[in-house]
Amino acid sequence: MAYQSLDSHVLIKLVSFFLSTLLVVTTVRSETKCRSFESIISFGDSIADTGNLIGLSSPNQLPESAFPPYGETFFHHPTGRFSDGRLVIDFIAEFLGFPHVPPFYGSKNGNFEKGVNFAVGAATALESSFLEERGIHCPYGNISLGVQIQSFKESLLNLCGSPSDCRDMIGNALILMGEIGGNDYNYPFFGRKTIEEIKELVPLVINTISSAITELVDMGGKTFLVPGNFPLGCSVIYLTLYQTPNKEDYDPLTGCLTWLNEFSEYHNEKLQTELNRLRKLYPHVNIIYGDYYNALLRLIQEPAKFGLMSRPLPVCCGSGGTYNFTFGVKCGSKGVGYCDDPSKYVNWDGVHMTETAYRLIAEGLLKGPYSIPPFDWSCLSSEIENKDSETQCRNFKSIISFGDSIADTGNLVGLSDPNDLPHVAFPPYGETFFHHPTGRFSNGRLVIDFIAEFLGLPLVPPFYGSQNANFEKGVNFAVGGATALERSFLEERGIHFAYTNVSLGVQLRSFKDSLPNLCGSSSDCRDMMENALILMGEIGGNDYNYAFFLGKPIQEIKELVPFVISSISSAIKELINMGGRTFLVPGDFPLGCSVAYLTIYQTSNMEEYDPKTGCLKWLNKFGEYYNKQLQAELNKLQKLYPHVNIIYADYYNAVSRLFQEPAKFGFMNRPLPACCGLGGSYNFTFGRKCGFQGVECCNDPTKYVNWDGVHLTESAYRLIAEGLLKGPYAIPPFDWSCLSSEIKNNGLDEQLM
Ligand SMILES: *[C@@H]1O[C@H](CO)[C@@H](O)[C@H](O)[C@H]1NC(C)=O
Ligand SMILES: *[C@@H]1O[C@H](CO)[C@@H](O)[C@H](O)[C@H]1NC(C)=O
Ligand SMILES: *[C@@H]1O[C@H](CO)[C@@H](O)[C@H](O)[C@H]1NC(C)=O
Ligand SMILES: *[C@@H]1O[C@H](CO)[C@@H](O)[C@H](O)[C@H]1NC(C)=O
Repeated sequence: MAYQSLDSHVLIKLVSFFLSTLLVVTTVRSETKCRSFESIISFGDSIADTGNLIGLSSPNQLPESAFPPYGETFFHHPTGRFSDGRLVIDFIAEFLGFPHVPPFYGSKNGNFEKGVNFAVGAATALESSFLEERGIHCPYGNISLGVQIQSFKESLLNLCGSPSDCRDMIGNALILMGEIGGNDYNYPFFGRKTIEEIKELVPLVINTISSAITELVDMGGKTFLVPGNFPLGCSVIYLTLYQTPNKEDYDPLTGCLTWLNEFSEYHNEKLQTELNRLRKLYPHVNIIYGDYYNALLRLIQEPAKFGLMSRPLPVCCGSGGTYNFTFGVKCGSKGVGYCDDPSKYVNWDGVHMTETAYRLIAEGLLKGPYSIPPFDWSCLSSEIENKDSETQCRNFKSIISFGDSIADTGNLVGLSDPNDLPHVAFPPYGETFFHHPTGRFSNGRLVIDFIAEFLGLPLVPPFYGSQNANFEKGVNFAVGGATALERSFLEERGIHFAYTNVSLGVQLRSFKDSLPNLCGSSSDCRDMMENALILMGEIGGNDYNYAFFLGKPIQEIKELVPFVISSISSAIKELINMGGRTFLVPGDFPLGCSVAYLTIYQTSNMEEYDPKTGCLKWLNKFGEYYNKQLQAELNKLQKLYPHVNIIYADYYNAVSRLFQEPAKFGFMNRPLPACCGLGGSYNFTFGRKCGFQGVECCNDPTKYVNWDGVHLTESAYRLIAEGLLKGPYAIPPFDWSCLSSEIKNNGLDEQLM
C-alpha cells in the first residue's frame, strides 16, 4: 500500500535537501532574524486550542475537552485544551516569558496584550462548504482558517487600536500558523475516501495556508512559525481504523503505519516548498517551518531516551482495543479513565498527544533542530538565552519572601498593637548585630539576611506596618507565628493557637493586593517576579508546633502533612503563573534538637535520645518524614514547570551537622541549651521567655546554636545560609555562573571565620 515509489520518495528528499541548502544561503544574506517578541498570535485547530471550541459551544453541548480528565496533569481541571496539560503553544509562551495565550472566542474581558489565540478544535484550513461539496463532512462546525483570520481582522481595533499600532503589534508578534490542515485530511480518511482523492486536497490546503500568511504579511507580520502535519501513521485513531494483519504495512521499529506516514511527509514536503517560495517573495519576513513530524516521530523511535514507555503507541485516556482506543468511547466521556503515569505516554486520547509529548516537541522547536531555520535568540535578553541553554543562573534583582518567624524581619511587630508588643520587640533580641530589637527572632541576622547580603541586595524590609518602605529590591511577608494552613482549618481540627492569623494564604493575598504599588503595570510585575528569588518558607513548622505543644498524638499531626504541602505547592503554582522563576523552599528543622521540644518531651528513657547529639530521635524522624514528602512534591512541580528553578533548602541537615560536629563550627560542646533563657535542663522555661524582664543573653552567643528555645542564633543562621548558597544544602545547587565575580566572592571571607 505504499503510494510513492521509493525513487520519487528519494527524489523529493533530495529536492528538499537542495532547497534547505538554498535557504541557508538566503538566511545568511538577509538581515538577522532575531526578534524580541512582544506577543503570540495563533491560528489553528485542536493542537493549539486553549479554550476556543468550548467558548463557541453551547453550554449543554460541550465538547469532550470540557470534561475530566482533560487538563488533569497540569491545570487540574479541563480548560478546553485537548491534552492532559499544556500544549506546544503553552510551552512557547512560557519560554518567551508570556502568560498562556488566552482563547479569543467566547472570552469576555480577556487580556490580549501578550497574545491572542484563534485556534479552534476541529477547524479545517479549507472552508467547510468547500469540503462538504466534495462529500467531506465537517462534524464540528465551520471555524476554518479563513474564518479565524476574518475574526482577527474584525477585532483589530479592540486588540491594538490604531492601524499603525496594529502594524507594530503584528510585526512584533510570533505568529503561529497552525498546525492547520490536519483535519482536512482526517475527515476524508475517517470517511474512507481514497488516498488519491485526499491527495488532491493537498495543494488546496497549502494554498489556503499560504494565502493566510500572505494576508498577515501585508498587515505587518514579520515572524511565522508554520507547523507541518504529525506522522498520521502513529496516530491511534488511524492505527485503529486502518489496522491490518499485513505486517509489511507497519514500520518494524515504531509500529506505525508506513503508508500514512508517507502521506504526512508528502504534505509536509509540499508545505516546505511553498514556504520556500514565500521566503523568496518576502525576504524581510522570517518564515519558520515547525517540523512536528520528526519532533514527534523520534519519541516513538527512541522512547527510552525521553523517559517514555517502550512502544508508546497506546493511548493514556481510552479503553479497550489494541491501542487502548475504541470508537464511540471517547476520553472525557463517563467511565473512561486515564493511565497512572501520563508522562510515559505519547498519545493522550487517540488523536491528541500528552503534555509530555507536547513539551518535548516545543523544546525541539525552541532549541532545535526541529525549527527550520532555527530560531535566532541572540538578541533576546540574557534571561531568555539562559532558558535556552537551560542554565538556571539568574542575576536576581530582588527577594520576595513568605514564611514565619524564621524569616520575619519585622512583620509581627509591625502588625502588633504598640501597647501590646510581642517578646521579640525587646532586648536582647537583635543585640549581637543590630544592637537593638528589629522584630527578628534571633540575636542578629537571619538566613534571609545573609542571602540578601550575598546577592548584594539590601536586607529585605517587612511589608506589614511599614510606611514609605522601599520595596524595589525586596519585600518580606513572613510573619512570626504564621502557619501554612488557615487558622479556621486548624481550629476545626482542635488546634487552637494565640498567634497570628496571617497564614501563607493571607500573605499571598497581601502580595497580590499590593502588586500595583510594588511594581506598577502587569508586565512590569511579571518582570519583577521573573527576576526575583522567591523564598517560600520555611512555613508549616508552626502548623506542627502548635499541634505538638497541645500534646496531639503524632498520628493526628502526620495527617496534617499532605495539607501543609499542598498549601505550599499551591502558593508556588500561583506565583509561577504570575511569572515566578526561582523558588527556594526550605524544609523543617530537626525538631528533636529544638529546646522547646526537648523540654516538653523530656524523658528518662535514654533510648529516645541520639547518643551523639542528645536530640530526640522520634521528633527528628517526624521532620525527616515531612521533608521527604515536601521534596517529592517539589520534584513533581519541577517536572510540571521545567522552565522554573525550584530549589529545596535542606535546613534539616544544614542544622543537624552543627549538633553533630559543634567543634568544627566553633560551637561549644553539646550546644543544645538556649543562649537566652532561664532554668531547666536546656536553659529554657515555658513562661519565662527571652525578651521578658530578667531573662538575659549568654556571654558568647557565637558558641550557641539555640537562641531562645525555638529559634537559632545568628551564628547558626549564617552557617545555614552559607550551606545553601555554596552547597551542599541547596538541592539542586544554585548556579552562580552568570553573576559578577564580586558577588560570587561576597561573603566568602566571612565564611572562613
Ligand atoms: C457557521 O455555521 C453557523 C451555523 O451552524 C452559521 O450561522 C454561520 O453563518 C456559519 N459561518 C460561516 C462563516 O460559514
Ligand atoms: C488504557 O486506558 C485506561 C483508562 O481507561 C488506563 O487505565 C490504562 O492504563 C490504559 N492501558 C494501557 C495499556 O495503556
Ligand atoms: C485576623 O484576626 C483579626 C482579629 O484578631 C481579625 O480582625 C481579622 O479579620 C483576621 N484576619 C483573617 C484573615 O482571618
Ligand atoms: C542560660 O541563660 C542565661 C541567661 O538567662 C545565661 O547567662 C547562661 O549562660 C545560660 N546558661 C547556659 C548553661 O547556657
